[in-house]
Amino acid sequence: MTLPDTSGQPMLTFPEAEKSPLSIRAKALVFIDPRSQQLRQTLERLAPLPLPVLVRGETGTGKELLARHIHKASGRAGLFVSVNCGALSPNHAEAELFGYTAGTYASAAGRTGWFGSANGGTLYLDEIGDLPQSLQAKFLAALENHEVTRVGAGHSTPVDVRLVAASSIDLAQAVAAGKFNERLYRYLREGDLELPALRDRPGDILPLAEYFLGVYSQRLGLAVPVFSDQAQARLAEHPWPGNTRELENVVHFALLVSRGDIIGPEHLNVPQPRALPLRQCLEREIDTCGPDGQAALRQLIEEALARLH
Ligand SMILES: Nc1ncnc2c1ncn2[C@@H]1O[C@H](COP(=O)(O)OP(=O)(O)OP(=O)(O)O)[C@@H](O)[C@H]1O
Ligand SMILES: [Mg+2]
Repeated sequence: MTLPDTSGQPMLTFPEAEKSPLSIRAKALVFIDPRSQQLRQTLERLAPLPLPVLVRGETGTGKELLARHIHKASGRAGLFVSVNCGALSPNHAEAELFGYTAGTYASAAGRTGWFGSANGGTLYLDEIGDLPQSLQAKFLAALENHEVTRVGAGHSTPVDVRLVAASSIDLAQAVAAGKFNERLYRYLREGDLELPALRDRPGDILPLAEYFLGVYSQRLGLAVPVFSDQAQARLAEHPWPGNTRELENVVHFALLVSRGDIIGPEHLNVPQPRALPLRQCLEREIDTCGPDGQAALRQLIEEALARLH
């Protein structure tokens, strides 16, 4: 049983970074909707306090970006270390988190682990609900006592880590189902931030779209196009199940395919609004009518659809 040989390699990586279309570090936080502005105030109040923070939100809402801002606003001198709990190796999660001593796992050198890398800084744990249950109590003890015991060590080492954890699942339910440590949950909830889904802060949609358009245009060396009124309406009415990440991808794609001054709805890779599937269903109904009824039915349907919009 050996850990992958990482000797000579820096321990610190950002596994999510390459998945993200933009370098997250370079990004501003666009928070315009009143709900977001309120959240920004809470964030700024929480950031300098010595409290853990739990960021709750659907996938793609911007949890990691928020966590990076908390770190920046905290004034903590150490690093921001991002770890996806779902990506921890099942057999070596403890060593990855807490480190291990020289000689353990046939490795000449020891490792400080994610905790040690974040010493003096912020440890960001993505999808903390995926933290192996066997480690949750040890993890809480490390945070509460400000010390970790590396795998293979007979003594503990002091660490000063501020935890920001994120979850897209309801941890209260996970606790109720016996899948998450209740004390760890209570510890995390001291600083509780809920990042609403993009559809629940509609005032952010267009400013975010404009922001991504500006960033990607600059990156590609293009003049910044504008969204047509119809495109803006389409952006505003789409429910964004993939949240801000989906919006970012849609804008990037639209910029690539539009190749002009105006981005229209035809450039937006989002499903057609609800009326179209409905229209398709109705077309099928019309087809089943006899030739006489078809025209009358079509007219009635067109009138009803017009009233819907
Ligand atoms: N308010 C915002 N302003 C600017 N960019 C944003 C904002 N929110 C999110 N983004 C961008 O949207 C993308 C998704 O954000 P992020 O990776 O932080 O989401 P997440 O909630 O951590 O996603 P996941 O649940 O998949 O881990 C990133 O490129 C991020 O920089
Ligand atoms: Mg994330």
